[in-house]
Order: sequence, then C-alpha cells, then structure tokens
Amino acid sequence: MNGASSIAPGAAASPGAMACPAAPSAARRRFAALVAGFALLVIFAGAQVKSHQAGLAVPDWPLSYGQWMPPMVGNIFYEHGHRLVAATVGLLTLALALWTARAEARRGVRRLAWACLAAVVAQGLLGGLTVLLLLPPSVSIAHAVLAQTYFGLVTWVAFAVSRTGRTVVDMANGPVQRLRPFPETIALLEKLGARNQHHCVSC
Ligand code: HEM
Repeated sequence: MNGASSIAPGAAASPGAMACPAAPSAARRRFAALVAGFALLVIFAGAQVKSHQAGLAVPDWPLSYGQWMPPMVGNIFYEHGHRLVAATVGLLTLALALWTARAEARRGVRRLAWACLAAVVAQGLLGGLTVLLLLPPSVSIAHAVLAQTYFGLVTWVAFAVSRTGRTVVDMANGPVQRLRPFPETIALLEKLGARNQHHCVSC
C-alpha cells in the first residue's frame, strides 16, 4: 500500500509535494505560449508584405540583395522584416521541438511538436520559392494556407502543455488547494477509463 493513502483528506502538503513528474513545467508551458504568440506575429508580418505588395521588394533568397541585413528602406522593410521574424520563429520552433522531445511524456504531443518544425521549414521554403518564382498564385496561396496550419499546430502544442484541458484524473492528481493526491483514487479513475494527462494543478 502506498504511504500517501494514510494522509488525512485535507492535510496540507508543501507546494510541489507528490507532484506528478510528467507534468509540463511552467517554463515549458510559457515557452510554448510564446512560440504561438510569435507564430501570430509572423502571420501579421506576412500580411503586411501582401498588403503593401512588397513580395518582390527583395528579389533574391535566402539572402536579401546578397546580404543578411540590407538597408530597411521602402518596401524592403516589410519583406526583409517578414523574413527576420520568420527566421526567429523558425529557431523558436526548433527549440520547442527539441524541448518537447526531451521533456514531454505524451508521444502524441512530441509528434505534434515535430510536425510544427516540419511545417515551419516547409513554410520557409515556400516563402523563398514565392520570391524566386516571382509570386505565382499557387505558391503564394500554399504559403498563406500553410501559415494558418502552422499556427494551428503550434497553438495545439501550447494548449496540450497548458493547464487547461485537465482531465478528472489530473484534478485528483493535484487539487487546487494543494492537497496531497490520493494515488488509489488516481489509479481507480484510470482503471475506470479516465485519461491522466499529467496536467495537475499543483505540479
Ligand atoms: C514561419 C514562417 C512564415 C510564415 C508563418 C509566413 C506567413 C506569411 C503570410 C501569412 C503571408 C501573407 C499571405 C497572404 O496574405 O496571401 C506571407 C506572405 C509572404 N511571405 Fe511569408 N511566412 C513565413 C516565412 C517566409 C519566408 C522565410 C519568406 C522568404 C522569402 C517569406 C516570403 C513571403 C512573401 C514574398 C510573401 C508575399 C506573397 C505574395 O505577395 O503573394 N515568408 N507570409
């Protein structure tokens, strides 16, 4: 019998005691939300390129006028600015995928994070192609559609590691009042078919 069963209901425990180890850390939750925020920002920056008709303001790719940082004048500001924000979000997505692969207990969420990385790489390539092929509608449309798909995937990861969407087992595993969880209750709930998403409140 596990020692925790002898604890009286309502007995206070130190914060973090009996925390479920697989729960995403606060840092990882915040980072995933940050990446989702950046994904929205790059979509906004892309929309600026489109609405200022700045898609060909920089005619080459991956460099811009043969440089990493051309003068940000006229429509170059929108096109190169979009590339800079996209590069940042690409690096953030790489970090998210690696972090998720290392720390996430759920295989589905790990796969989702890899899918985000694949989407952002494909998105970067499509962005480059749009420029090199002089904005053919098919490539521009694919670029616009994949942008929303990528945003959806990153938001999904952020939601999966967030505290929302907790199941009844998660609630039992770390109640709001920071009571010690009852392993027997958790085991029973799991046996009855409830899913343990390791989203407990006190972890
Ligand atoms: C995370 C990566 C990226 C995202 C999420 C993204 C998103 C977007 C979005 C939402 C648009 C507006 C589409 C529309 O309104 O039709 C756009 C336009 C554009 N993006 Fe990106 N983009 C990314 C990376 C890149 C990269 C690396 C390039 C490199 C050149 C690029 C080049 C362009 C161009 C040229 C347009 C204008 C297309 C047109 O005028 O038809 N994008 N992007």
